[in-house]
Amino acid sequence: MNKKLLAATLLVAAAMSSQLAAQDDPNAGDPERGRILSDPCLGCHGIEGNMTTYPPYHVPRLGGQNPNYIIKALKGYAGDDRVHDGMHAQAADLSEQDLKDIGAFFGQEAAVEADTEVQPPESGIYCVSCHGVNGVSITTEFPHLAGQHADYLNETIRQYLNGDRSDISMNAFLNMLSDEQLNELSEFYASQPGLVTAKR
Ligand code: HEC
Ligand code: HEC
Repeated sequence: MNKKLLAATLLVAAAMSSQLAAQDDPNAGDPERGRILSDPCLGCHGIEGNMTTYPPYHVPRLGGQNPNYIIKALKGYAGDDRVHDGMHAQAADLSEQDLKDIGAFFGQEAAVEADTEVQPPESGIYCVSCHGVNGVSITTEFPHLAGQHADYLNETIRQYLNGDRSDISMNAFLNMLSDEQLNELSEFYASQPGLVTAKR
């Protein structure tokens, strides 16, 4: 990537973080109500090692994920930004308050901390501006990648590239990397301490 594009990216990231600061406090969600609402979700997300059937990949870990990202992801499945029939059905009828409470429940499950000592592979140099050095993201609207399943990260990358997911920040970045580099990054983030399988 050239320097102009990098500068533009950092600007977008900075603008997004200041916008986020002005948004509702994510802690406004009630994690106890979120726990009750999330009970059916844990039938899939709460089972260690649970995989989808086709294509096969691990159901994502949500324990410790950023509350605002969980809300964004669920809105993506409910609307047009994420094509996934199963999660569409799960997300379609959730109210704004439900989303906040669910985000608060998963967000409190684990402390996900940045480790600035860690260096990502060179291909990850542009990911750092949003996802942090070791996959602990810099604002609560970006997903933590640290500790997520590698095959799930690879699957999401495939979805951004083929249009099943759209996001203004992500679509541009992944195009610049080879399959090998993307695979290397997924393995790197998955190997970092971070997200956990959520528990009841
Ligand atoms: C039948 C199994 C199943 C159930 C039940 C289920 N999910 Fe999911 N969920 C999945 C799968 C599979 C994915 C990955 C979809 C994809 O490829 O984008 C996913 C993705 C997600 C993501 C995106 C995570 C990320 O890192 O991008 C969130 C958030 C989520 N689910 C929350 C929920 C919530 C909240 C509920 C309950 C209201 C729920 N899920 C119920 C299987 C399930
Ligand atoms: C400008 C900020 C930004 C940059 C730079 C960026 N990302 Fe992202 N990334 C995001 C956002 C925002 C999302 C969530 C998008 C959505 O709602 O689907 C995301 C989502 C992801 C996901 C899906 C995670 C999940 O749980 O579903 C992966 C994997 C990912 N990014 C990897 C990367 C990699 C690898 C790079 C570097 C090549 C990168 N990102 C660069 C902002 C960024």
